[in-house]
Amino acid sequence: MCGIVGYIGRREANDLLIEGLHRLEYRGYDSAGISILHSGENLKSKIKNLKSKNHLVTVRALGKVENLEKKVGEKMKGSVGIAHTRWATHGKPSEKNAHPHTDCAGQIALVHNGIIENYNELKEDLVKQGHLFASETDTEVIAHLIEEHLKEKDDFEAAFTEALKHLRGTYGIAAVALSQPNKLFVARMGSPLLIGVGKDEYFVASDVSAVLAHTKRVVYLEDGERAVITRDGYVVKSGKIIQKKTVSDVEWSEKEAKRGGYPHFMLKEIFDQPESFADALRGRLLPDEGTARLGGLREVEKRLEGIRRIVIVSCGTSSYAGLVGKYMLEEYAGIPVEVEVASEFRYRKMMLDKYTAVLGISQSGETADTLAALREAKKKGALTLGIVNTVGSTIARETDAGVYNHAGPEVSVASTKAFTSQLAILALLTLYLGRKRGMSLVTGQRIARELLKLPRLMERIFVQSGTIKKLAKKYAHRKNYLYLGRKYNFPIALEGAIKVKEIAYVSAQGYPTGEMKHGPIALVDKDALALFIMPLDSVYEKSVSGLEEIKARGGTVLAITTEGNTALEKKADAVVYIPKTLEMLTPILSVIPLQLFAYHMSVALGYDVDRPRNLAKSVTVE
Ligand code: AGP
Repeated sequence: MCGIVGYIGRREANDLLIEGLHRLEYRGYDSAGISILHSGENLKSKIKNLKSKNHLVTVRALGKVENLEKKVGEKMKGSVGIAHTRWATHGKPSEKNAHPHTDCAGQIALVHNGIIENYNELKEDLVKQGHLFASETDTEVIAHLIEEHLKEKDDFEAAFTEALKHLRGTYGIAAVALSQPNKLFVARMGSPLLIGVGKDEYFVASDVSAVLAHTKRVVYLEDGERAVITRDGYVVKSGKIIQKKTVSDVEWSEKEAKRGGYPHFMLKEIFDQPESFADALRGRLLPDEGTARLGGLREVEKRLEGIRRIVIVSCGTSSYAGLVGKYMLEEYAGIPVEVEVASEFRYRKMMLDKYTAVLGISQSGETADTLAALREAKKKGALTLGIVNTVGSTIARETDAGVYNHAGPEVSVASTKAFTSQLAILALLTLYLGRKRGMSLVTGQRIARELLKLPRLMERIFVQSGTIKKLAKKYAHRKNYLYLGRKYNFPIALEGAIKVKEIAYVSAQGYPTGEMKHGPIALVDKDALALFIMPLDSVYEKSVSGLEEIKARGGTVLAITTEGNTALEKKADAVVYIPKTLEMLTPILSVIPLQLFAYHMSVALGYDVDRPRNLAKSVTVE
């Protein structure tokens, strides 16, 4: 989820690139950098011992783009360049990990968005061949790989193309080379990239918002395509074949473009989920071996083998993800798991020892209560682990080991894609620990293969977005909202309820369906809406009884169930369907209609969806 911008034309690239970065900052902003193919004049003290007229100058800075802007200060002259704003995935946010990355000789500079899954293997080989690495990133291997291929090819385009063949994972790449001072090289595989077409000038960007101030004419690259761009045009190729590309006219305003055309970040982030979920699994799932490879846990592998109990500490949505994790880990890895709200955990007398792992789950990695709970656990000798989205955040740094979500920045206060990516990591953890503790190969393979199908299954839910919108409008003025679910979907009842509370400001309760008759059923009357999360699973029949009880008391029922279960339409007032999957994975799908329901309700009621009142995205105070 980084931002890329590139320029080739007749104007000074520096200002245009910095301006483009500002527009992309919402995609990630822990560091930024710029490389300009320098015309050689006006270098002053910047570069010593100039040998030729052209130079490649790279400047990087930690933090926001404005830090980079200040650092660049004196204009870097040149009309060809690339720039990047980073959201860390591999290697903490730091100046040396910021893009652009260069080869050993400093002849190549490139920026990258995506994840190179096999970067460790590539790096090991390149180090053996004598390459010196300056960063901890996956991206840097690409620069060295091109440099390596240049030894045989002596043609930058050929070496660039050859290097791409060795990459596994996702990328949007923009590169410049000193040997090719009038060209930009780009490639796309799984990460968006486009060419902005101007008059005698071209832009490159990961997102149309970076170029809209200059042109509304763009060429979208497809996966597997690469392009060479000059001031006079561009050639797009896929393999050896030249592709005839259509130039599209973008009709978005600059503001709309920033959110990818969506009216709110929350909706964008809901629709981002197939991608963010796949990114969380990327390079970690081993379907044939029925397990997961979690590099972040390698250092504590031995200690994890002796763990007898897991305590999950977290807040809000992250703690509901933890609850789903409890059901998964207990059923498939046979480990007792407790889930504690971090603000309670930190003040309780908790019995912890070195055989307990305390797992903190946090999107921001900065939540004060979760951090304090983990510090307390560490003091008591427990192994501390993290599932964190923000690379280099305090929780990520202070835990003994952990796994990053790789969901990209989540801008909307209401958490959506971070939640499903937390569930992805918890499923991976279940496979990883389960297979070491007696889970059969066949079970592991079944879970792994089903996980891989989920991004596609999520898309099937989006098709019902219009129906959910109508339902949200219709039911936006009820007095009470009861969210009910059992077993794996009880935490989803909690999550559904918190979503409408925080962005639609209505009173909503999340309950286990079976608990209803112990109190909340008293709330049911004709003004109540009960949302049942009841896929066809091992507790389905029991959920049906709960539904009948609500109907018998005059309540309205909106049910979420498995595709094909049309019989429920006779019992419920409205039904939304999710595709069939394994019971343990149903929460990953069933939460999506509830996210959409909350979103559309907030819009219908006229609230500020992305910045709800009284809340903050990152709660860094107690
Ligand atoms: C969810 O929509 C919330 N905004 C909130 O509950 C959030 O999940 C909680 O504050 C925890 O944040 P964290 O994941 O960054 O630690």
